[in-house]
Amino acid sequence: MKNKNIKKIKEFGDFQTPRLLARQIALFLRNSGIDPSTIIEPTCGTGSFIHASIETFPKADIVGMDINKDYIELISEKITSIKHKKHIFIKQADFFALDWKKELNTYKDPILIIGNPPWITSAEMSILNGSNIPIKSNIHRYSGLEAKTGRSIFYISEWVIITLLNSLSGSNGALAMFCKTSVARRVLVCCESKKLMISKSSIHLIDSKRHFNVSVNGCLFICQLKPNSQSYSCTIFQNLNSDHPIQEIGIIDGNLVANIHLYEKWKHLHIQVFRYKKYVDNLLMSLLDRKKCYNNW
Ligand SMILES: C[S@@+](CC[C@H](N)C(=O)[O-])C[C@H]1O[C@@H](n2cnc3c(N)ncnc32)[C@H](O)[C@@H]1O
Repeated sequence: MKNKNIKKIKEFGDFQTPRLLARQIALFLRNSGIDPSTIIEPTCGTGSFIHASIETFPKADIVGMDINKDYIELISEKITSIKHKKHIFIKQADFFALDWKKELNTYKDPILIIGNPPWITSAEMSILNGSNIPIKSNIHRYSGLEAKTGRSIFYISEWVIITLLNSLSGSNGALAMFCKTSVARRVLVCCESKKLMISKSSIHLIDSKRHFNVSVNGCLFICQLKPNSQSYSCTIFQNLNSDHPIQEIGIIDGNLVANIHLYEKWKHLHIQVFRYKKYVDNLLMSLLDRKKCYNNW
């Protein structure tokens, strides 16, 4: 493959979801009781989730968007043969150019947002000299120093998911997206800090090697929303077929805790360590102050 094409694939995070996996995900969502009036795939690519949604949720309106004109033409051609296509809307759109709150207001509730947003970080994008990136991208509101030390590096998919959850917050919608598990965890922390109205969330691990031939820790991240709900614990399952959680993560004092049940059991130790750390910090500060006084003197 030519270098120019490889650069384009990386910049646009162009790794299409296999049809079989998209179908499994759609069925899983339906069997979990998610019953949307509108399904939106904001970066639909060649349309695996569009087809899976048409098959699995025949009554829902379906909206597909992608920045790539060729993909939009391809899907539009494919759906001409579908009988009840009145409720399928496919359009070319740049995710970063849309006002998502306004956009979602034009569709029937409840909305399910589904898909697999681009897999690239802001740092990789700048190495590629790419421009497919949001302009105002400091989603976590990092300070200048944190931004300089690299903490402000983010995944494009993280930005996409947070933007969508922010716009869905206050509704009865849901979001189900394939992403890295690290992205799902970062999103959860951000939801808590922004107090978005999440009622339930879960992570279902997916074998990325098998489905995408890449070695990343990928998952289906599901967030269900409800007005006035603020629940930021998240249950992790081994795969889409498992009913038994392997872990429950959560946010405590703004920090992600890997196992909230174990944390509850042992939190007294953490509090003691925290007090001790504060004591040592204060001691060091006063020693430094004394040294300063001595030097000045
Ligand atoms: C990882 S692929 C997934 C495609 C599809 N969602 C799927 O699951 O098969 C990411 C898709 O995002 C699209 N994309 C990248 N940047 C975009 C943008 N700024 N706006 C809309 N779509 C974009 C790419 O063209 C590509 O089709």
